[in-house]
Amino acid sequence: MTTYTAYAPGRINLIGEHTDYNLGFAMPIALEERTTVTFEPDGSDRITLASDEEGVGSAFDVTAQPGDVDGWASYAAGVVWALAQAGHPVVGGAMSVHSDVPIGAGLSSSAALECAVLLSMNAATGTELDNLDVARLAQRGENDFVGAPTGLMDQLASLGGEVDRALLIDFETSSVEPVAFELDAHDLVLLVVNSNAAHQHSTGEYRARRESCTRAARELGVDTLRDVQGEDVLERIGDSVDRARVRHVLSENQRVLECAKAMASGDFRRVGTLMDQSHASMRDDFEITTPHIDLIAESLGVHGALGARMTGGGFGGCVIALVPAPDVDRITTAVTSDIAERGFPDPTIFTARAGRGAALVNDRT
Ligand code: GLA
Repeated sequence: MTTYTAYAPGRINLIGEHTDYNLGFAMPIALEERTTVTFEPDGSDRITLASDEEGVGSAFDVTAQPGDVDGWASYAAGVVWALAQAGHPVVGGAMSVHSDVPIGAGLSSSAALECAVLLSMNAATGTELDNLDVARLAQRGENDFVGAPTGLMDQLASLGGEVDRALLIDFETSSVEPVAFELDAHDLVLLVVNSNAAHQHSTGEYRARRESCTRAARELGVDTLRDVQGEDVLERIGDSVDRARVRHVLSENQRVLECAKAMASGDFRRVGTLMDQSHASMRDDFEITTPHIDLIAESLGVHGALGARMTGGGFGGCVIALVPAPDVDRITTAVTSDIAERGFPDPTIFTARAGRGAALVNDRT
């Protein structure tokens, strides 16, 4: 029997939150942490899924429809469904999943699973698709099968990642432009503080933010918020909450573009300031942070980070910070103690690097 092995990494978004579905800009990196799927097709109509993390098996038919599959397996079933819907071949068999991407931490463990399943399935069926097609199919599975109304960032980051590069993504054209992200050369480290407060995007808050943006765009007479700019636009939005949501999206797009320039010229002080501003905008205008997450970001700043911000969809997950390499241990200890003092759960703190994107490992007979 031939097996097909593919891996796909999680991602960290450096800046540009909730901009993807507004066709704006974001700048994620792919992580070194990844999900690997080994697929042994058997010609049947059923896929069995085994994961060493979950410790439980799961199975679904390749003909499964939205609503038929629950839990983590629905992300795998969703992309198989999306492939079939698009007219591509799918086949049953055994998939085994191994992942070191933390789950529910805002690091896109779900996109990693989707992309690895897609690549291994495509290898088995001889289907050749480019990154954008794969990303769109994975998003379709997540939106229409799992029911999470997410954008395209996580999949594009997982598929397009490059070592020591951030990816400047323009969601209007879906272009992905690598930007130098060479922290070693500046004696800096990207520190990740996982709050260990899990989040979920199929729940109402993410959807509500998206609906605010759609409603405001309609009010402004445009298809998406990408088509508007400037303060005077805000005055034309009647509802004060929608207005604040749009202020975040418009200002965040500007910060992403400025951040890409600062990064390319090695101005990491400026990058840090933009990260701080992004966090404040997510806290005050988009209202997707929590007191726990705000405390972590603030504590990182107080103890010497150049900048800190929550990454991902919000309401928990991780805070990232740019930190001088010699200060990593001191800052880790200080932040851990601030969190404990305020009675929040212990964090998991680690450093992250920009890694390479998803790939097929081999096919072995
Ligand atoms: C989640 C979604 C992405 C994006 C971010 C917020 O990660 O999956 O599409 O919207 O939230 O930037």
